[in-house]
Amino acid sequence: GKVVLAYSGGLDTSVILKWLEETYDCEVVTFTADLGQGEELDPAREKAEKMGVKEIYIDDLRETFVRDYVFPMFRANAIYEGEYLLGTSIARPLIAKRLVDIARETGADAVAHGATGKGNDQVRFELNAYALNPEIQVIAPWREWDLNSREKLMNYAESRDIPVDFAAAGKKSPYSMDANLLHISYEGGNLEDPWWEPEEEMWRWSVSPERAPDEATEIVIGFEKGDPVSINGEKLSPAELLLKLNQLGGANGIGRLDMVENRYVGMKSRGCYETPGGTILLKARRALESLTLDRGEAHMKDELMPKYAELVYNGYWFAPEREMLQKAIDATQANVNGDVRLRLYKGNVIVAGRQSDNSLFDPAIATFEDDAGAYDQRDAEGFIKLNALRLRIGAKAGRRG
Ligand code: ARG
Ligand code: SIN
Repeated sequence: GKVVLAYSGGLDTSVILKWLEETYDCEVVTFTADLGQGEELDPAREKAEKMGVKEIYIDDLRETFVRDYVFPMFRANAIYEGEYLLGTSIARPLIAKRLVDIARETGADAVAHGATGKGNDQVRFELNAYALNPEIQVIAPWREWDLNSREKLMNYAESRDIPVDFAAAGKKSPYSMDANLLHISYEGGNLEDPWWEPEEEMWRWSVSPERAPDEATEIVIGFEKGDPVSINGEKLSPAELLLKLNQLGGANGIGRLDMVENRYVGMKSRGCYETPGGTILLKARRALESLTLDRGEAHMKDELMPKYAELVYNGYWFAPEREMLQKAIDATQANVNGDVRLRLYKGNVIVAGRQSDNSLFDPAIATFEDDAGAYDQRDAEGFIKLNALRLRIGAKAGRRG
């Protein structure tokens, strides 16, 4: 048979490649995606070639990733457990989709990935793959083999002549990392002690707020139908725009997060994240929605948000309930057009102004000055009295005080 492997070109997935051939006596097709992780993909191709792979897929998915996954998720203002902007979670369905597509194109009956049996990623790859192809076979070597230490992995690589870049292996970060255009994540190593503070050198995308410039960076982000389309009047593609915001945010110490989260499989895990552009966009989007969404619509969105975020985190992107919520969310976005002016300053995203042709903000009604009859203050008396009725009944019955 044939297996499509999500291949990074690193040691782990190279060992998996060999192990698949040996264990399943199969041909391996490799798939490497550019999601904006900031790594050259040529080495992955060369390595796959060296290992005798005949069908090598290298895809630039940066625009697809941001336009069809990150931006739709942002429309929900999704955050998991109050903090996490879901940078890894949202990339998994796209990788699963490509694995399944490539399996169809190459006539493979299985897909394989390098996620461990302890984490969220295995669940996300597999739920999404099954949702797109109910017949697909999934191979997760980490759940099957006994190469459960760095040493065993290295020994296996050496005994099979797998090219190990020892210089890279020596410089290898002590953390398990994952990066794409939305974020970079760090887990494991010393982070497994939740009281231990990571060294400054761990953070790769941002300066610390302390070392950020003393001068704020002012920017204006333009939105159309809920999606950001320009910075300071310059139209940018989704991937270009997010990259630019990552640079601006990172330079101003924005978007660092250190949290303990609940994995879907049940354990708690400590993770550190840098999501500069996403942090800016969340603040900006909310500022624009504050002008352009009706209150009922906005509050309902906020009620659905934790559910939506949990679905993305748990791997239910290609699931009917996520798609159902997406339709509801998207239906609110037609009026989310306009500009938000922001000041980026030492880790803070400060909203300085917002404007929209679709604004519901009516100064004639809201004014502290003479509203010329736009609002009758006497209406408020009955409004308050009726809302107070049950409170007064309760108080009369001695329920309070
Ligand atoms: N804990 C985060 C999540 O579940 C990040 C996972 C990082 N994955 C990785 N393979 N390093 O979304
Ligand atoms: C992994 O287990 O492969 C990474 C962490 C996660 O998926 O949660």
